[in-house]
Formats: sequence, C-alpha cells, structure tokens
Amino acid sequence: MNLKLRIWRQDGPEDKGAIHEYDVAGVSEDSSFLEMLDILNEELFEKGEEPIAFDSDCREGICGQCGVVINGIAHGPERTTTCQLHMRTFNDGDTITIEPWRAEAFPIIKDLVVNRSAFDRIIQAGGYITVNTGAAPEAHSQLVPKPEADKAFNAAACIGCGACVAACPNASAMLFTSAKVTHLGLLPQGKPENLSRVVNMLNQMDEEGFGGCTNVGECAAVCPKEIPLDVISTLNRQLGKALVRGV
Ligand code: SF4
Ligand code: FES
Repeated sequence: MNLKLRIWRQDGPEDKGAIHEYDVAGVSEDSSFLEMLDILNEELFEKGEEPIAFDSDCREGICGQCGVVINGIAHGPERTTTCQLHMRTFNDGDTITIEPWRAEAFPIIKDLVVNRSAFDRIIQAGGYITVNTGAAPEAHSQLVPKPEADKAFNAAACIGCGACVAACPNASAMLFTSAKVTHLGLLPQGKPENLSRVVNMLNQMDEEGFGGCTNVGECAAVCPKEIPLDVISTLNRQLGKALVRGV
C-alpha cells in the first residue's frame, strides 16, 4: 500500500504545531498502524530527519499507552486500540490524518505524545481500597453475586487510554472515572469507601480541567474496551447518595 500521511508535529507544549505531510510506500496490509509509523520513522531516521514521537508499550491492546486520533476518530475507524488497528482497514492511495488526543488536561509533550498523568491523579484521589482484604482464601470466601461480579469485571477492563476524553466535545473524563468507581464500588471490599471515593475522584477530575458530562455518548462509542455508558449512571447514583449524606 502507498499512503499519504498528514501528521501533527509539535516540538513541545509551548510550540504552535502544524500538520506535516509524508508519503509512505510499500506498507503491508498485515502491518499494524504503529508498524506503519515505524516504517515511516525508519525512513525519516535514514534521511537525518527527526522521527515522529508517539506512545506505545504492549502493542497488544492491554496497557492503554498508545492512542492517536486517526481521520478524526479516537483510535481510528475500528473500535480497538491504535496498536490493534491494522492497515487492511485502509485502502491503497488513502490519505490518513493523524493527530494527538486534544484536551486541556492532556497537554501535548511532543508530536503525538500527550501527558496523561491527570488520570493517575484521579486514581490517587480515590481509585483504590484501603481495607485489609487478607490472603487469597479470605477473598475466595467472600461471596459476590455473579451479576455484580460481571459488571465489576467489565468496568475493570478500562485500560486508561484516554480515548473517551479525546472523543468527548467537553473533554470529560467521566467514562474513565465512572469505570473505576463502578469496578471498585460493586465489590464488597470497595463498598465502605464508595461515597468518599466518588466525591474525591470527581473533585480531582474537575481540578485537572476535564469538562463535565452532557450525555453525548461519544466516549462509549470509541472506547476500545466497550465500557458501557451505564457506569456513568452508577457513578451518578453514588454521587446522589454522597450529597444527601453530606459527604
Ligand atoms: S473508559 Fe475506555 S476509552 Fe476511556 S480510558 Fe478507559 S478504556 Fe480508554
Ligand atoms: S500499546 Fe498497549 S494498548 Fe496499545
């Protein structure tokens, strides 16, 4: 495949940045999207030009490290992570525009790499449990109803990639935050801290500069782990209880 790439290049957080165009030839349709960028970077390196900075780690859809906006869609046209997107999704001769996540709370470090440490601070504000859960036998003796275990497990699938924020017109981190609140809050060990968790995590979300949720639903539409919108309802129910009890 021969492709024209339009890629956002930005030297650092203060640089204005701009789209640059590159031609890349001989890309196999079996290549992943990141392998295609690797090919371009090798060519740039050989020409003495600076390679394009982008994030990746596992390249298996697990770590949440990768993530760019491809032709206007977070993670591109398939509902998967950028690293699991394959070039067979595109056609020979296509022009592909590649941009970083755009959100005030995710400042651009360089080119396609953004700083997502705001997510870490939301987790630090309440995305944990402090009760002593004992060793494995104790955990196994604590019965959890299957529907709740399944719902908690589905919410726990969030990999913190940030696509939900990138897709949201308000740059809200509500799907991410709600996934953590749902995951921890449905399990018996997490319940004692439910109300303080939701208040502390939401306060941190606001402090980081993420917007509020207005039920647009773009977040769930692009989420590679198919976190459902109803986790936001779960968070809102817990927030309601916290407000009534003055937490
Ligand atoms: S909710 Fe989905 S899109 Fe958002 S960070 Fe988690 S995995 Fe990524
Ligand atoms: S590099 Fe780990 S999810 Fe894409």
